Amino acid sequence: MPTSSRPGGRPSPTTGPAVRAVGLRKSYGDKTVLDGIDLHIPAGSVFALLGPNGAGKTTAVKILSTLIAADGGQAQVAGHDVATSPDGVRAAIGVTGQFSAVDGLITGEENMLLMADLHHLSKREGRRVTAELLERFDLVDAARKPAQSYSGGMRRRLDIAMTLVGGPRIIFLDEPTTGLDPRSRHNMWRIIRELVSDGVTVFLTTQYLEEADELADRIAVLNDGRIAAEGSADELKRLIPGGHVRLRFTDPSAYRHAAVTLREATTARAPGSAPGAAVDDEALALQIPSDGSQRELRSLLDWLDSAGIEADELTVHTPDLDDVFFALTGSTVPHQPRKDVR
Ligand SMILES: Nc1ncnc2c1ncn2[C@@H]1O[C@H](COP(=O)(O)OP(=O)(O)OP(=O)(O)O)[C@@H](O)[C@H]1O
Ligand SMILES: [Mg+2]
Repeated sequence: MPTSSRPGGRPSPTTGPAVRAVGLRKSYGDKTVLDGIDLHIPAGSVFALLGPNGAGKTTAVKILSTLIAADGGQAQVAGHDVATSPDGVRAAIGVTGQFSAVDGLITGEENMLLMADLHHLSKREGRRVTAELLERFDLVDAARKPAQSYSGGMRRRLDIAMTLVGGPRIIFLDEPTTGLDPRSRHNMWRIIRELVSDGVTVFLTTQYLEEADELADRIAVLNDGRIAAEGSADELKRLIPGGHVRLRFTDPSAYRHAAVTLREATTARAPGSAPGAAVDDEALALQIPSDGSQRELRSLLDWLDSAGIEADELTVHTPDLDDVFFALTGSTVPHQPRKDVR
């Protein structure tokens, strides 16, 4: 699969979106996995597909990377139709699957050279690209050891390094950090950001909302075979309520005074009063719904001052992607009530 670009170099610019899909459908037997999904991913951006287990994320990646055919709809990747021009798609993309493509019996370096062969690079070019990527992915010391001796994080890095051998302009990363410890995860995020700064388009699937929040320009939440919502992390967070200001007290009597004053103000519906606060007697904390805007905060602070309420700690909470995910996919948070809500 020869390409017009090489690892480390800036890939040739893609005209039009990197990925465009309209009405993609896929069923297995009578189970509908994708029920008409549309995607539009600008070149050079990071797109994250989120969804619970079994939502169809890997299925979408497989269709877009030409590993399986859709039952309906259309998709173009790097301007090539996945159904009629799969070779064009394959020449432009790299795929790191959910499950490792690394051969454990051979060394990391041999895995890389094998990929270079598959991409028809000359021996000399294959060695050059391999050395460059092993260095970039901090695998030089391990390069001559069998890959089965690698840790999960090293194996994942090798997996992605192998994906980059052909210099793809678009890469699909199916759960690139699942099973990695926080340090390895942050390393992987750094690597992904570097790819993006080289102009590569990244399509990633993830279970980690924080990961989508960190990396993605746009996020789509897949549920029941459809895109339940799509937007930037901030846009998605604005879709659901849950923003509030939390006031915490250390002195129980100050807490009780504040709780009573707030309740009275709410009951009286006095102008400028704070709307119904939730109380947390155990934590000596009050939660007042708020969009977190400067204007609302100022009026709340003014009201607290005038009511003689002085909290020991004031924090502003906006809904996070976890809240969005649970709201959109109808799943519940195991073992604990939803964060920030009593
Ligand atoms: N080859 C197949 N034959 C039959 N059913 C399949 C096949 N591949 C996937 N499925 C089903 O399609 C659904 C979506 O699977 P998919 O692997 O795309 O989900 P996913 O979102 O990637 O999940 P996970 O988060 O667990 O990786 C699942 O119910 C799965 O069992
Ligand atoms: Mg999957």
